Amino acid sequence: MGCESNSRNATPPKPAIAPGAESIRARNVAANFEIDPRIPALIPGFDAPFFQAGLAGYSDAAMRIIARRLGCPYCVTEALLDRTLLAGGRGFAKADLGELHDNVPGGREDHPLCGQIMGSDPDEMAAGARKMIERNISDDDPHAGFQTIDVNLACPVKKIKSKARGGHWLRDPEGAIDILRAVRDAVPADVPTTLKIRRSWDDTPDAERNFMRIFDAAYEIGYAWATVHCRSVQQKYVGPSRWHVLRDVLATRRDRVVFGSGDIWNAEDIFRMIEYTGVSAVSVARGCIGNPWIFRQARQLMAGEEPTTPTITEQRDVLLEHFQLSAAVNGEHKASFLMRKFGIRFAEHHPDSETVRRGFIAVKSIADWRAVLDAHYTGEAAETRDSALAMQR
Ligand SMILES: Cc1cc2nc3c(=O)[nH]c(=O)nc-3n(C[C@H](O)[C@H](O)[C@H](O)COP(=O)(O)O)c2cc1C
Repeated sequence: MGCESNSRNATPPKPAIAPGAESIRARNVAANFEIDPRIPALIPGFDAPFFQAGLAGYSDAAMRIIARRLGCPYCVTEALLDRTLLAGGRGFAKADLGELHDNVPGGREDHPLCGQIMGSDPDEMAAGARKMIERNISDDDPHAGFQTIDVNLACPVKKIKSKARGGHWLRDPEGAIDILRAVRDAVPADVPTTLKIRRSWDDTPDAERNFMRIFDAAYEIGYAWATVHCRSVQQKYVGPSRWHVLRDVLATRRDRVVFGSGDIWNAEDIFRMIEYTGVSAVSVARGCIGNPWIFRQARQLMAGEEPTTPTITEQRDVLLEHFQLSAAVNGEHKASFLMRKFGIRFAEHHPDSETVRRGFIAVKSIADWRAVLDAHYTGEAAETRDSALAMQR
């Protein structure tokens, strides 16, 4: 379970972006782009206008480290319920949202890292946020904990015991603001707080007003930035992300650091969204599941270079690395289960994707994983394809 439940949202729909955005020359935008200096000033190392989103069930330390090795400058954990945090992970993990260990920082390589929190009660949210920050204090390594705390007012998963949380707060702006204030007050002044929010509850004018009320309040209270997912809560993950809504919001709030989310399927989409909406950075979500190379390609676009497709050999290396990292984080048994869903998405890059996909689905151990890699990612066919790709480069 997680923010994605109720539908098979990890599967990309057809790209459906804002009218007119298709004609933006994303490569020109990328090659001339300069990061808003306020972002690296606040989070050293956050040096490019994209990051890996929180993705419940996926974005654990293993996925984050793979993304970082391929150029992702900043990652967000999946939403962790304040009560899960306060209970030390007991009692809620299976029945509810994010699991505690998926949100454990992955050490020196896993920073800068943003810990995301979600909940129903301002005091519990404040206590949860403090608990997250305690990890920073108890560790000798200044890079080991969370550099930012993100409040989730976006998750569409149904309320439990009729308590608002996530995106449901968009129907109660004053309650949402109490949560934002409580978390900001609880977190030390030198730790930035940020917000993840949907563009509105639904398409009514009242819902739009509620969004604006919460959005403006967040900046007044001292939130560093908001990431706006341009779908309504009612849309869940279906239908186009309405980039024009964000463009209209930014037209009257140009001085703010705002990030965008929704319908980022390839590296060019990042720069299309930036140009179309005016956001300072973009969250990469479903577009990076099984495609961590999107981050390398985005950096190549910024350097004015042709983005490179991963060779079969590169894919093999990353697939093995990801399994090994996942086994270190989750243990081999759980990693085998988790890696199947990544395998399905990684297989899309392989010329014989259906056979490879079936191979990954049957994996029960690292030995099985290696066997799929040996069967499909090495040998003459792989070498021939890699040489063809090398010629194209
Ligand atoms: C499987 C899945 C899990 C998600 N989990 C989270 C989460 O824990 N926290 C969060 O802020 N957003 C979460 N999201 C929302 C994404 O971060 C993102 O806003 C959304 O998918 C829209 O972007 P996209 O259309 O480019 O995928 C999740 C989305 C999916 C598909």
